[in-house]
Amino acid sequence: MSRVLLFTGKGGVGKTTLSAATAASLAAHGRKALVVSTDPAHSLGDALGVRLGAEPSEVDESGGLFACQIDPRGLVDEAWGELRGHLRTVLAGAGVDELDAEELTVLPGVEELLALAEVRRLASSGPWEVVVVDCGPTAETLRLLSLPEAFAGYLERLFPTHRRVVRGLLAGVAGTGTVEKWDATADALSRLAERLDALRSMLADSESCSVRLVLTPERVVAAETRRTLTALALQGIRVDSVIANRLVPSPGAARGAAATWLRTRRQEQDAVLAELTGIGEIRTVDHRAAEPVGVPALLEVAAQLYGDEDPLPGAAVPESLLEVSGSGRGLDARYSLRIALPLSDDTDLDLARVDDDLALTVDGRRRLVALPSLLRRCIVIGAEMDSGGVMVEFRPDPSLWR
Ligand SMILES: Nc1ncnc2c1ncn2[C@@H]1O[C@H](COP(=O)(O)OP(=O)(O)OP(=O)(O)O)[C@@H](O)[C@H]1O
Ligand SMILES: [Mg+2]
Repeated sequence: MSRVLLFTGKGGVGKTTLSAATAASLAAHGRKALVVSTDPAHSLGDALGVRLGAEPSEVDESGGLFACQIDPRGLVDEAWGELRGHLRTVLAGAGVDELDAEELTVLPGVEELLALAEVRRLASSGPWEVVVVDCGPTAETLRLLSLPEAFAGYLERLFPTHRRVVRGLLAGVAGTGTVEKWDATADALSRLAERLDALRSMLADSESCSVRLVLTPERVVAAETRRTLTALALQGIRVDSVIANRLVPSPGAARGAAATWLRTRRQEQDAVLAELTGIGEIRTVDHRAAEPVGVPALLEVAAQLYGDEDPLPGAAVPESLLEVSGSGRGLDARYSLRIALPLSDDTDLDLARVDDDLALTVDGRRRLVALPSLLRRCIVIGAEMDSGGVMVEFRPDPSLWR
């Protein structure tokens, strides 16, 4: 399995440029690298200065750099189109109204999901040491990364675990032809579910998959960066670097209108970066006079971004998301669960206990956190939040405690 580096950030900040520069630099460091774009507005080829297809091709004669742009629409026709047809027939056979069947089998996000599945296929079967992904804008990427989970839930509803019962029901109402079709559909759906599972484990495996977040030093972008960091942490996806792109050069002691403009602009940019505290080191790239297009120009960008270092390792793995501590004994014991999340003062947070999980809703995004077994036998007695996360207090539930 290749290492997977996902690049995302707000529209236009330089995701495509920096993912291409990173891949070019990895290849220059002797690592076989593939850069793929899952952004439907493909501009990866423009950044590299070559024409790209859906299959990985060599970018230059160096032999180590490959690139491609995934065509999600083609994948949908190939994979989901057929399955969707099957499902509709089966549902119709089972007496489900045609319109309802249509609704059940239209799946928002399936294109992006298949693009991500394709990334996983390339990463798990290709010869590349690193697969760099130009994911496109943040909002879409966040949706994309939460899809495997959402989709698994959908499959569970559409295709219950008790599929034998469904088969029996179908046999009763629709005859053997439909049952055979159901079997074929059920198999196809299981394979899809397996792929989703693999995708979820790839995303959650912080050793092999991480995100590099790109921003430009502007207030609106910085605000979005914080929200993105929270949303990714909530999904258990590791961010290994934050990169500030397009820092204007400092004019030094030069005088004149142009120098004043640059000085003011740079001071503003520095102020925005200074406000982004608590998110670890931010790497920076200058705003260059010419657009970095083609491998040599991209390598110059990478040299500034990574210095002489190997671009592969990101920052150190941050502390684990969950940490339990406790004091006291027996029924008098008190436990606290710390959930590490970068939060800001205006974060809207809601916490609820749902059986053995804590449902955490941050700015409208919900995440179930499985409680460690000790805490499942406890009652929540309070919660506090600060900029580093949430602390939930528990005490033993007398009816479950022995
Ligand atoms: N450091 C830089 N200096 C000068 N130009 C840059 C720099 N970084 C990016 N650019 C240019 O800015 C434009 C936008 O960059 P890029 O396409 O990489 O952004 P993006 O985040 O991928 O955009 P989109 O959200 O549209 O996909 C491109 O023309 C690119 O060449
Ligand atoms: Mg782009």
